[in-house]
Amino acid sequence: MIVKSAELETVCGITSKLPDNDLPEIAFAGKSNVGKSSLINGLLNRKSLARTSAQPGKTQTINFYNVNKNLYFVDLPGYGYAKVSVEIRAKWGKMIERYLHGSPQLKKVFLLIDIRHVPSENDCMMYDWIVDNGYEPVIICTKLDKIKRSQVQKNLKLIREKLDLVPGTTMIPFSAQTKQGRDEIWNLIEETLAQ
Ligand code: GTP
Ligand code: MG
Repeated sequence: MIVKSAELETVCGITSKLPDNDLPEIAFAGKSNVGKSSLINGLLNRKSLARTSAQPGKTQTINFYNVNKNLYFVDLPGYGYAKVSVEIRAKWGKMIERYLHGSPQLKKVFLLIDIRHVPSENDCMMYDWIVDNGYEPVIICTKLDKIKRSQVQKNLKLIREKLDLVPGTTMIPFSAQTKQGRDEIWNLIEETLAQ
């Protein structure tokens, strides 16, 4: 897809009403610091449209990016960030759940997992939530440039096993640095929009 325009259109806080969009939505979920905002920038060819940070917990809102006036990318707040209170963490969970549950325009969910690590209990819970809400998430394994090539297949297998993925679930290794995986992700998005 040729990205002609991309802009942050709606920012939803914990108590905000979700927008009543009439364009299809594609959501990106994953723990804090896994690379959600970097992936969105990579897909949109923008350096810093979605704010990224080495400090986890940067995106604490649900951010809707209007792409080509044709679809929305939805940057979900990262979970599992240890430094916020239990209360705030519970609110994030509720917000994500509310979004997954009540979004008629949500067409695809990407769940991001750091390719270097075995998924956490929070990752497993997030995967189960997505599946329980009726979606077939695609797993994007981020930070591909940080491991040796010879490690890739082994790590993908560990992630598949730990999340206990539904057979046939697509996994795409991605690097925001080299952009490896970008075309494959766009192909999936275009397929989804065509359905
Ligand atoms: P929150 O907003 O806190 O939930 O984080 P996020 O998931 O949006 O992560 P973000 O995109 O801000 O990235 C976190 C850190 O990881 C930043 O320092 C990024 O530069 C780095 N990062 C993200 N993706 C990659 C990647 O593919 N390769 C490498 N080497 N670094 C990455
Ligand atoms: Mg972010």
